[in-house]
Amino acid sequence: MFTFVTDFDDKNDYRTMEDNKQERFPIVDESGEVVGSATRGECHDGSRMLHPVVHLHVFNSQNEVYLQKRPEWKDIQPGKWDTSVGGHMDYGETPDEALVREAGEELGITDFQPVRVGQYVFDSRRERELVYVNRTTYNGRVCPSAEELDGGRFWTLDEIRAAIGQDILTPNFESEFQRFFLTPKDETYRLLTEQIGALVEGETDAVCVMANVAAAIHSEMGFFWTGFYRVIDGELRLGPFQGPVACMHIGYGKGVCGTAWQRRETIVVPDVEAFPGHIACSSLSRSEIVVPVFNSQGDVAAVLDIDSRELGTFDDTDRRWLERICGFCRM
Ligand code: SME
Repeated sequence: MFTFVTDFDDKNDYRTMEDNKQERFPIVDESGEVVGSATRGECHDGSRMLHPVVHLHVFNSQNEVYLQKRPEWKDIQPGKWDTSVGGHMDYGETPDEALVREAGEELGITDFQPVRVGQYVFDSRRERELVYVNRTTYNGRVCPSAEELDGGRFWTLDEIRAAIGQDILTPNFESEFQRFFLTPKDETYRLLTEQIGALVEGETDAVCVMANVAAAIHSEMGFFWTGFYRVIDGELRLGPFQGPVACMHIGYGKGVCGTAWQRRETIVVPDVEAFPGHIACSSLSRSEIVVPVFNSQGDVAAVLDIDSRELGTFDDTDRRWLERICGFCRM
């Protein structure tokens, strides 16, 4: 388990300084299993009992992320920009229930789908927290609490990169955001490719391999839809996939998948609406990449299709690594 050790105090702590010290928090082990309970006061008095908190990073469809601004009157980190939403889990609450409560209180948003991107232990002088890190894509209205916050706004990833280390963002946000959202794509794919290589080594059944390749890519990269279409009887037929239900038959030269088959090359589509003949299995899919899988005779045996909720998700880095991963599916 990744542990983040620091000598600055946690924002969830100072955010709620005036809260009731008798409030009960769950005490958990590092896997999140509840092993007891303690009061807020006990958790924050240096006893360092591990207690859970939830963080939500709110992205819009342009891949900008909402940051909240801490009011100037706060005694810790005044005026700094911070994670969209964050707070403690109450005793008896699940992480998702805590997220819904906190997102409602802090930003006035209720209709969102959280996706868990990881968890880590945050260790400061005063306390130990198990942090559940979540993201969501949200395009509705954000109404930051007038009492708790000094407003907020969406930031581009480049703006955030430029602000890091400039005393503009809270240190807690900087370290978490860098770790979970600014890892270079190459590094993520390198690890994923290594993992897939080991996973499918020696396996000779194509469907088995495709099933695990789709699952590994999907869970690691957090895409909207990840799956294979196989060439069977002169058409593409739906194969192993992860994500919502999809169309089952695609003709040669049809849609992005059929075109990648016809051209025998990877196709990157930054905006599906701009691709003539794109087949929309879901209106939520905004960009797409399709990579052919070749058999040992050099014919296209299948295509790997990946869809994203955001525009412009895929580039040459994705193409390079996914072509390598599709090499593992060659039978
Ligand atoms: N968009 C694809 C169809 C498959 S779904 O995206 C899963 C296409 O145009 O070929």
